[in-house]
Amino acid sequence: MERFQPHLFEANMNDRNGASKKVKISISEQRRKLKPEDRLIISLDTGSKETLVSLCRRIGGKVSILKIGLELIYNLGFDAINIVRSFGYKIFLDSKLLDIPNTVRGAISGIANLKPYMVTMHTLGGEEMLSAAVAFFKQRVASIRDSLPPLLFGVTVLTSLNDRDLSNIGFRESHLSLVCDLASIARKSGLDGVICSPNEVSIIREKYGDNFYIATPGIRLPEDLLNDQKRVGTPRKAISSGADFIIVGRSITSKKDIGNAIDRFLDEISGEV
Ligand code: C5P
Repeated sequence: MERFQPHLFEANMNDRNGASKKVKISISEQRRKLKPEDRLIISLDTGSKETLVSLCRRIGGKVSILKIGLELIYNLGFDAINIVRSFGYKIFLDSKLLDIPNTVRGAISGIANLKPYMVTMHTLGGEEMLSAAVAFFKQRVASIRDSLPPLLFGVTVLTSLNDRDLSNIGFRESHLSLVCDLASIARKSGLDGVICSPNEVSIIREKYGDNFYIATPGIRLPEDLLNDQKRVGTPRKAISSGADFIIVGRSITSKKDIGNAIDRFLDEISGEV
């Protein structure tokens, strides 16, 4: 299977004289090249090495990218990355960075060594933190051999929060308006894309155009349990609204026949692209 190469910012093209030259590929062009198996990111939320290995095996190479988040990192450490990579998957490191710019810079120093494909940070960290992160990733990656810049995603508002939760924290805005404000900060800071719920995709796509990635967790099939997620939507809705990636955890990993569950999601995605 030819896998998605988000790092291919450049491609070889022949000029009029037949000589090979490097050209930049915009995010919008990269987005057009995505295949269904590149768009379904499976979230490996477990603290057990055995379960991790079993999940990687049972996913069976049907998708390109797997997500490693706080649960795996705090239970297994960075070994989790080596395990997932040993099965040939690309790494989406859901690091959810949120701290003062100087501390985030320090963390990126280590994260860059892990050579992830995708990395997340909280847009609530503000423009200064996000811009510092973008600049420092570029600088760090340039100093590491065989390293390519990861795609940087800004988490807007967690999909487990609704307007009531936001009001309890002290936000006066609705989730929709906050997501749009945070997406604007992400764009200004030079991030490659944002994470939001399927319900906010169309407005972000409309406001911020084609040259921006959108990834959505909070994905559920109509028969699935919501668990702790509050702003949810189907894979079909997310993709038809303009999402590039859907992030799915329990709706796949809790199923007995994981291969079958993945096929169901891939079919849903294929129906919309
Ligand atoms: O099991 P489920 O499909 O709900 O998992 C969703 C995954 O996406 C989890 O790993 C969670 O940490 C992540 N995520 C999220 N909401 C965000 C950002 C990431 O649910 N806004």
